[in-house]
Amino acid sequence: MNETLVTIRDLQVQFDTRVGRVQAVDHVDLDIQHGEVLGLVGESGCGKSTLGFSILRLIRPPGLIVGGSIVFDGENLLAQSEAEMNRLRGKRIAMIFQDPMTSLNPLQRIDDHFVETIRTHEPQVTREQAVQRARDMFEHLGIAPERLIDYPHQLSGGMRQRVMIGLALVLNSDLVIADEPTTSLDVIVEAQILDLMRDLQREYGVTMILITHNMGIVAEMADRIAVMYAGRIAEIAPAQALFDSPKHPYTQGLLRSIPNILLKDQELASLPGSPPHLIDQQPWCRFAPRCPQVMPACREVNPPLVNVGPRRQAACLLYQ
Ligand SMILES: Nc1ncnc2c1ncn2[C@@H]1O[C@H](COP(=O)(O)OP(=O)(O)O)[C@@H](O)[C@H]1O
Ligand SMILES: [Mg+2]
Repeated sequence: MNETLVTIRDLQVQFDTRVGRVQAVDHVDLDIQHGEVLGLVGESGCGKSTLGFSILRLIRPPGLIVGGSIVFDGENLLAQSEAEMNRLRGKRIAMIFQDPMTSLNPLQRIDDHFVETIRTHEPQVTREQAVQRARDMFEHLGIAPERLIDYPHQLSGGMRQRVMIGLALVLNSDLVIADEPTTSLDVIVEAQILDLMRDLQREYGVTMILITHNMGIVAEMADRIAVMYAGRIAEIAPAQALFDSPKHPYTQGLLRSIPNILLKDQELASLPGSPPHLIDQQPWCRFAPRCPQVMPACREVNPPLVNVGPRRQAACLLYQ
């Protein structure tokens, strides 16, 4: 599990809005290893989805990838043609969205979704073969294959999210990007879906980027965790190490602010303040205004990620 599948370097994504230019992803470096689940966490608006969408090159105006590189299996995705990206999307890199209704066609039966997904990328497969693959997938998903002839609205929210997971896995993609995949579900169904995702991830050996604002979910699912703050990576570490000894004051605050049975002797506290607007960013540490350990130098430089332990890095002057 130490071969790199995705190498992101100096990625910059901007949105031109009426009130100004938003730097949603701000000089991000990130490596994703074959077969791992990388959790991408942080408060709402910190750039998680933008980073995920960038890998599929699904940033649309007013957004624009303005710099950097995303090398996937040896190829820079930012240099590919749109036709080449279309071949990669769904086939080698799949995405699971928060709300399955936005990606399922309400007028199309579930089996047709599978047939279309499979035959778009593997035209030699017959409809019958594609339906058979969908039936096999439904067994894995724990849904009776008879439900394949249903329309999306006839399924429960949890079933629809299972279908999305099935559609993401049916082509044996190398990389699945799951963006808040359980946020729209109730907690019981959420736990079932997470169990399913973990089982299928192991079974298929798929590499996964799991985007969530929920530290409990990454605690359960992720091998490694990247914490984002205001468009940048604040800290990245193996999951257990991050929970055992968070280094960045933002990570420490995040962990204190959630009720978490994994943390002993915890006092529940809330992180004071709110994330900055990403317009006209200050050229110094984004977290300084909220940081309980802020020092004068924090208002002078924007700290780069530095090594703070085995396989772990943090972007904080406390460690430089
Ligand atoms: N379509 C858009 N138009 C303008 N600004 C956007 C758009 N999408 C995202 N942004 C801005 O980019 C920043 C990051 O957003 P996003 O990646 O969705 O964050 P997250 O997924 O962490 O909640 C936010 O400040 C958001 O306002
Ligand atoms: Mg998001």
